[in-house]
Amino acid sequence: MAKMWSGRFEKSASKLLDEFNASLMFDKELYKEDIEGSIAHAKMLNKQGILTDEELKDIIKGLGQIRDEIEKGEFKFEISDEDIHMAVEKRLTEIIGYAGKKLHTARSRNDQVALDFRLYVQRRNKEIKELLLNLIDTFVEVAKEHKSTLIPGMTHLQHAQPISFAYHMLAYASMFKRDVERFESSFRRNNFSPLGCAALAGTPHPIDREFTSKELGFDAPTINCLDSVSDRDFALEILFNIATMMMHISRLAEELILWSSYEFKFITISDDYATGSSIMPQKKNPDVPELLRGKTGRVYGNLISLLTVMKGLPLAYNKDMQEDKEGVFDSVKTARISLIILNEVIKSMKINKENMYKACKTGHLTATDLADYLVEKCHIPFREAHFITGRAVALAEKNGKDISDLSFEELKSIDDRIKEDVMEYLQLEHSMNSRNSQGATSVKRVEEQIEYFENWLENMSDKG
Ligand code: ARG
Repeated sequence: MAKMWSGRFEKSASKLLDEFNASLMFDKELYKEDIEGSIAHAKMLNKQGILTDEELKDIIKGLGQIRDEIEKGEFKFEISDEDIHMAVEKRLTEIIGYAGKKLHTARSRNDQVALDFRLYVQRRNKEIKELLLNLIDTFVEVAKEHKSTLIPGMTHLQHAQPISFAYHMLAYASMFKRDVERFESSFRRNNFSPLGCAALAGTPHPIDREFTSKELGFDAPTINCLDSVSDRDFALEILFNIATMMMHISRLAEELILWSSYEFKFITISDDYATGSSIMPQKKNPDVPELLRGKTGRVYGNLISLLTVMKGLPLAYNKDMQEDKEGVFDSVKTARISLIILNEVIKSMKINKENMYKACKTGHLTATDLADYLVEKCHIPFREAHFITGRAVALAEKNGKDISDLSFEELKSIDDRIKEDVMEYLQLEHSMNSRNSQGATSVKRVEEQIEYFENWLENMSDKG
């Protein structure tokens, strides 16, 4: 069948070209946005006297039928139609005839694809934000249960100071909150309609871009048509936002993998989200966090791909830009399923408090507390206190115990300025609660943080 653009061509396109040139097999994902964009455009053309009421009615009905056909799997996607825009338009003309051919007045596929893709990105942005909010809510719920559950806080993956599991969960809540804010800010920055920009220079037809912009839920039409058909920043932003979010997810995934190992045993991943080995019957593998960690790499790739596609492209539209979609579709799907499954894993994992506590009893987590005690209570200069504490650690090692289990006699043997009240300072709970500065790990400060996140979440749900 002749192409819609075949007027100036003498030979019909080869099959090989069709296959190479077409985006239909993936951009059919945009069918809803394409149809909604066309309906808004048709309404505007009617309002401006370019389409009759009858023609508008036919177009809306025809487009509705096409949506049904696609959703029921009855629509015939033919690669020779090139992309979703032309596939829909061709079918519309088949269904309603002449009026279908008028729909493309004052529009080009360049502004059409810019619109469809932008609408798609804006909608997925909102969905991902909602899933992130659910996840943050889960962290807060877990935190409420574990304000006094001790785990070894680490630096360099070495035991450092005792912290609460709640505090650790709230660190992730903080990261994902910033992710939410990044999605929100991208949404606001990009909520402008490119429809009506036509090929690149605008159109001589008396269109009303304010009308279509409002109709489609944008804040306003874009400022400059040349930019609007060339711009893919909005797609890059969602790719970057997803990449950063997945980076956060991958760090948690790594911790879940470590924590579920025999060496740690801090958590037990629910059987629903773990798998076995085909050869080693004893194994239970943390596939979900491993995949979350792995998928992060793919999502980074999608960001780098599109940055590279866009690099150095002259204005305005270039066919290179057809390569903008698959990576975004892939990152969006990955983000969605990752957030859903991560939330389930966190909700259903068993938290092995006793093992966490046992781990806190190795590595002399309260050594800093002894040094602080010597400074505060015995007025010893910090450098000297550091040295004395080093000796206490050496003694504990020699006696095969943790610094928190040294007796008063043992401590006194190191320096006789040490008094009985030191015993409290070496306790893990005391250590954690003594870190009571703003944003710190003490129960009191963690309660403040929980309250902060609860208020923030409530505010977010009010905003809708
Ligand atoms: N399928 C194209 C894309 O996804 C649509 C825009 C094509 N415009 C054009 N003038 N060839 O980028």
